[in-house]
Amino acid sequence: MSVKIAPSILAADFANLERDSKMINTSAADWFHIDIMDGVFVPNISFGMPVLKAIQEHATKPLDVHLMIIDPDRYIETFASLGAAVLTVHYEACHHLHRSIQKIKSCGMKAGVALNPHTPIQSLEAIINDIDLVCLMSVNPGFGGQSFIENTFEKVEQLKSLIHSKNAQCLIEIDGGVTDQNASKLISLGADVLVAGNYVFKSKDPHSTIQLLKEA
Ligand code: DX5
Ligand code: ZN
Repeated sequence: MSVKIAPSILAADFANLERDSKMINTSAADWFHIDIMDGVFVPNISFGMPVLKAIQEHATKPLDVHLMIIDPDRYIETFASLGAAVLTVHYEACHHLHRSIQKIKSCGMKAGVALNPHTPIQSLEAIINDIDLVCLMSVNPGFGGQSFIENTFEKVEQLKSLIHSKNAQCLIEIDGGVTDQNASKLISLGADVLVAGNYVFKSKDPHSTIQLLKEA
């Protein structure tokens, strides 16, 4: 299976969301990555439901929604009704992670769990078989355009071996600072999905940049 590319809308031009959504539709990208931030779990506020709805009206590819919000259970049904295909919550933001995952799945979405850079892979040991996707944060969440944290490579290896030892099925997604400098190593270690914001949208030709990552 070839790596999936999920351009992050956080780096798009918010005054031209229709244009940028169509760019993703016609590119080699696989998913739309949508970052929802609440200004509490992370020190930034991105955008909320009305903006997601506007994107959803133009997107022809699955919506990969990354919630950087506290107590995400409050909004699981809402994100299902807005068309999220994958809903990712943060390990650090959930008191009852197992319950959150079950609720996401019962609403018909794939369940993702994101880990901050400081959170050990072992934290997922008891729950890895219930998860459809693990999002390894390769920057501290909250902002696009940050530098990739090198320790992520080791975490991908650890996660890959946890998945293998438990015979689990979940995808490994990498989020933050992904470029052509780290993509091929991430893929060779077992990454299934690469999120890329600034590297795609701030490039001269986003179409070819997406293609470049796809072939990394
Ligand atoms: C960071 C977000 C990322 C971000 C990635 O909190 O979760 O998805 O948009 O942006 P780049 O690729 O620019 O680091
Ligand atoms: Zn994200």
